[in-house]
Amino acid sequence: MRAKILLVDDDRDILLGLENRITWMGHEPLTASDGAEALRLIEQEAPDLVLLDLELPHRSGLEVLQQVREAAAVAAGPDSETPLATYTTPLIIILTAFGTIERAVQAMHLGAFDFLTKPFTADHLTVVIKKALETLALDRHVDVLRKEVEGQYDPIVGTNQKMAAQLAIAKQAAAAPVTVLLLGETGTGKEVIARAIHRWSPRRDKPFVAVNCAALPDTLLENELFGHERGAYTGALKREPGKIEIAEGGTVFLDEIGDMPLLMQSHLLRVLQDQTFYRVGGTQLIRTNVRFIAATNKDLRQAIRQGTFREDLYYRLAVITSTLPPLRERLDDLPALSEYFLRRAAGLGTHRQYTLSDRALTLMHQYHWPGNVRELENVLTRAVILSTGATIEPSHLSLMAVSSTPDQESGLDSSLHAYHEMMEAYSKNILARALQQNGWNQTRAAEALKLQRTYFTKLLRQKQISGHPPHTRPDNEAE
Ligand SMILES: Nc1ncnc2c1ncn2[C@@H]1O[C@H](COP(=O)(O)OP(=O)(O)OP(=O)(O)O)[C@@H](O)[C@H]1O
Ligand SMILES: [Mg+2]
Repeated sequence: MRAKILLVDDDRDILLGLENRITWMGHEPLTASDGAEALRLIEQEAPDLVLLDLELPHRSGLEVLQQVREAAAVAAGPDSETPLATYTTPLIIILTAFGTIERAVQAMHLGAFDFLTKPFTADHLTVVIKKALETLALDRHVDVLRKEVEGQYDPIVGTNQKMAAQLAIAKQAAAAPVTVLLLGETGTGKEVIARAIHRWSPRRDKPFVAVNCAALPDTLLENELFGHERGAYTGALKREPGKIEIAEGGTVFLDEIGDMPLLMQSHLLRVLQDQTFYRVGGTQLIRTNVRFIAATNKDLRQAIRQGTFREDLYYRLAVITSTLPPLRERLDDLPALSEYFLRRAAGLGTHRQYTLSDRALTLMHQYHWPGNVRELENVLTRAVILSTGATIEPSHLSLMAVSSTPDQESGLDSSLHAYHEMMEAYSKNILARALQQNGWNQTRAAEALKLQRTYFTKLLRQKQISGHPPHTRPDNEAE
């Protein structure tokens, strides 16, 4: 990169020498001969790097360094939780005379990047500048990546009222260090909201660490959460911190809490009660400062009745509870969510802008969405792959082929819905299944259901069911 480098020294000859070298290296030099001018140029020109002599008239190099540091703190804002960065921006390299090494060390403590003792060779200067610029480039790269990652989770799409009410609860809860319990069917966005709560909280600059409580048996989960001491078990060759320690100061997201083994539930209860825990094999009590957010799609009250979930843990977790509505209860968000997912799917490869046909949107309104927003995302991603034009038609949606469990296959989950809604979903699934089981041969599917072929076809049309297998393209739509 071609960098803008400010050179600050009251010795004209040194300044000239540096200027030549910097130009020779392909960078843009700026010069100042006292501290006040240096500060003015830093503010006006925003150089990437400053070579700063410590002995300066008007303001010493150390004062300049201190001011740069304070300006960064002010820019970050009074409420900023961001710890001061290791180095100042711009990066500062101290030029120091032989015998003033203590001052150089002091400067390093104040956030200078490196120092050069005069006299130095041109090669030494080149190496130090290169190292500084590499650090700068890396920092910027990390910054870009972090923004990208944050951006990935950024939008919580939708304006549905039920959802907005839950978001309001989440936002309010975010400010306090209280435990939040997120409930809702699979794919309703519990993890999305958990991450948002972390971002909205004063802990946003500390880690967000997710633990899937269903994925591991007792002992492994304990190890995952609390870490272990060296020698805690065969193979524990060194001390390893758990997720709670890794998240120190931040948020631990306990996903699928309803599936946590009972023994672990009692360990967790202790952490929630007095913010302390032991590492596996440890005897030293460790104090922790993390915020817990838990989520589950299970009915915890029922689990309590069945004896698989501790009631005391439930009350500790459910200080604030937010229940996310299933997609079928927020169908007004379908257009916005679809647009968002279609745009994202397009970004993944084809770079084409897709839209839903009216018929496709109607079909989506009729569908039951047992897998909620995640299912919608999957259906639309598949549709983008299947479609040949820019318009998504019902035949691209393959809504019937996505269900997997017997309940979902019938278009029903365990909760009750309007009679006609359920009957509609059920009959659609029967028709789709007959098609599927008969290799999309409509005559045979009609026979299997003991229906007239023409009536069968009419039903398909009425219910907007594609007569084609979901992963092949109907001939008439090939371009
Ligand atoms: N409001 C929303 N806006 C944008 N994307 C969303 C929204 N809600 C959910 N999603 C997307 O839907 C998918 C599922 O969301 P998430 O993983 O948060 O669901 P979940 O409730 O944790 O599901 P599960 O119980 O199965 O773990 C994710 O890819 C997420 O990005
Ligand atoms: Mg989840």
